[in-house]
Amino acid sequence: MTASHANSGAIPPILLIGCGRMGSAMLSGWREQGLSPSFAVDPSPTASTFAGPDLTVVADAAAIPESFAPSAVVLAVKPQNAAATLPVYQRFAGSSVFLSIMAGRTIAGMAALLGPTAAIVRAMPNTPAAVRQGVTVACPSPAVTPAQRDLCDRLLQAIGAVAWVDQEALLDPVTAVSGSGPAYVFLLAELMEQAAIEQGIPADLARLLARQTVSGSGALLAASPEDASALRVAVTSPGGTTAEALSVLMAPDAWPRAMSGAIAAATRRSRELAG
Ligand SMILES: NC(=O)c1ccc[n+]([C@@H]2O[C@H](COP(=O)([O-])OP(=O)(O)OC[C@H]3O[C@@H](n4cnc5c(N)ncnc54)[C@H](OP(=O)(O)O)[C@@H]3O)[C@@H](O)[C@H]2O)c1
Repeated sequence: MTASHANSGAIPPILLIGCGRMGSAMLSGWREQGLSPSFAVDPSPTASTFAGPDLTVVADAAAIPESFAPSAVVLAVKPQNAAATLPVYQRFAGSSVFLSIMAGRTIAGMAALLGPTAAIVRAMPNTPAAVRQGVTVACPSPAVTPAQRDLCDRLLQAIGAVAWVDQEALLDPVTAVSGSGPAYVFLLAELMEQAAIEQGIPADLARLLARQTVSGSGALLAASPEDASALRVAVTSPGGTTAEALSVLMAPDAWPRAMSGAIAAATRRSRELAG
């Protein structure tokens, strides 16, 4: 696994396929760095709102001029649309790298639609990408050059941290941890809010306490060089209230078993859905 570093300079021409939540989040990050004249394809009526001097938005691949030569084709459509969407972009396989953020679409599955020699990067981002606080794990196919990998790294850094792996199989547990992980954290906020109400705290105050405790603790973790376990120990006085709560949560049959089982179940499901 390797972590990456930010680059500078304008982003070269990109072809963005799918301008939904993820595609548009990346686009706004690229624009901050200066996006060279690029194209986006999206049939949705709202997609044209993303057009600007740096970006032409078209509803269909047929409207992309023959002369347009993107450095990267970013695949940000729903996985179930891959088979119908990808083959028309085969013509870019010789000169571009395909960067896919589609959940569960394997490099082999995409190569079957884009051609066996296509340079493909399969990446798994997560929803905090919407506020540039995501984490993406990326895996290159053998055809990806170092320059193409660097470009994909820059494109993904627009939505948060990036890590690279060479073993594609790791993307199943990655999906279970960071891809699905935001849902576990949101569930934590929900359950804390419910438990606060059970203890007599008014609903609006319970909501504030749960949200701010989860988001504030996340910010503290992000700002601290210490491990999560060290931060936990630092707020746990022997014999105090936190220790009492943790004796419930950290019992072997409680959170340790639940989290381990949840991530194992999500990893299995990711393998089942891959294609
Ligand atoms: N959201 C996440 O947290 C997350 C996390 C990890 C990975 N991903 C992956 O990111 C990808 C995009 O997710 P999203 O949440 O951004 O989805 P989304 O908001 O539904 O965006 C997909 C966009 O693609 C458009 N589209 C449909 N068919 C198309 C075609 N043939 N050519 C070009 N555009 C087309 C859709 O238009 P219509 O709405 O009109 O169909 C929509 O605007 C998915 O593959 C997902 O697995 C998402």
